[in-house]
Amino acid sequence: MSSKVVLGLVGSPNRDARTYQLVQAALAGAEEAGARTELVQMADHVVDACKDCLPWVCRDNLKCTYDDPAFELLSEKVLSCGALVLGTPIYWWDTSGMVRYLMLKMFRVYARQAPLNGLPAFGIGVAGGTGNGLVSGLRPVYHFFQMMRMRVLGPVPATRFNFAEAQEAIKARGVELGRMAEERRPFATDEERFLWYDELPYLGLSRQEERRLLAGMTTAAAGEDSGPRLAQQLVHADALALAGDQPAALAQIGRTYDAGVKAFESR
Ligand SMILES: Cc1cc2nc3c(=O)[nH]c(=O)nc-3n(C[C@H](O)[C@H](O)[C@H](O)COP(=O)(O)O)c2cc1C
Repeated sequence: MSSKVVLGLVGSPNRDARTYQLVQAALAGAEEAGARTELVQMADHVVDACKDCLPWVCRDNLKCTYDDPAFELLSEKVLSCGALVLGTPIYWWDTSGMVRYLMLKMFRVYARQAPLNGLPAFGIGVAGGTGNGLVSGLRPVYHFFQMMRMRVLGPVPATRFNFAEAQEAIKARGVELGRMAEERRPFATDEERFLWYDELPYLGLSRQEERRLLAGMTTAAAGEDSGPRLAQQLVHADALALAGDQPAALAQIGRTYDAGVKAFESR
């Protein structure tokens, strides 16, 4: 068993809501793999904005020049953990502000010396409203991991439409992360890291593909009455896309998505 904990950061102001539940699922998985875990509510430790101050001493002394107890606490926990789970709610197809402030300050202080090279990590974004941003909201988190050279596991797009499945898949990622926490494997070269990240699923999707993924989720969640009909509509959308008519394909995806949401909400 690793002596270091698997750290879960909850980046939502709502302490027991969806982000918390998914971070908790990942930590439960890590515990199954024998790891010790710790969950921290970022709402209790909101990092200040990086002031981009000069001279740029923090890149050498690895310490923010300004008094920022929240950053000191969170960065110390990240630096000393065996693996990291970072969870954010999706706000406007993007991360929450408190997650963004932590990442921006960590870029400034740690990206150059890369003390987190090889740290096992997993990002969670929960698009709990329309479902839009289920991929685009994860991208900043995985960009952060990449700049920090962490050794990540592929993301699991999560919305309110696939929440239970996402929870299960995230728990399984947690088991893997718990095992990875036993031994850190830093990247030897930038190329190795770039290729690792290029292999990750979902993050390279176009907006159209992201909408298609989401419409697939609302279709699956629509229930037995309308689900099969909506699945047919998506087959039609795929045929339009294959024939090169992307505007018509996207419009069809949008209609199917809308119908799926309606069916899901009336279940
Ligand atoms: C400012 C704001 C913007 C939001 N934008 C989106 C969005 O782009 N896509 C989405 O699916 N949900 C959006 N939501 C809904 C949240 O993702 C949803 O409430 C989620 O469950 C929040 O995470 P939590 O339950 O952990 O607090 C937004 C909520 C807020 C407050």
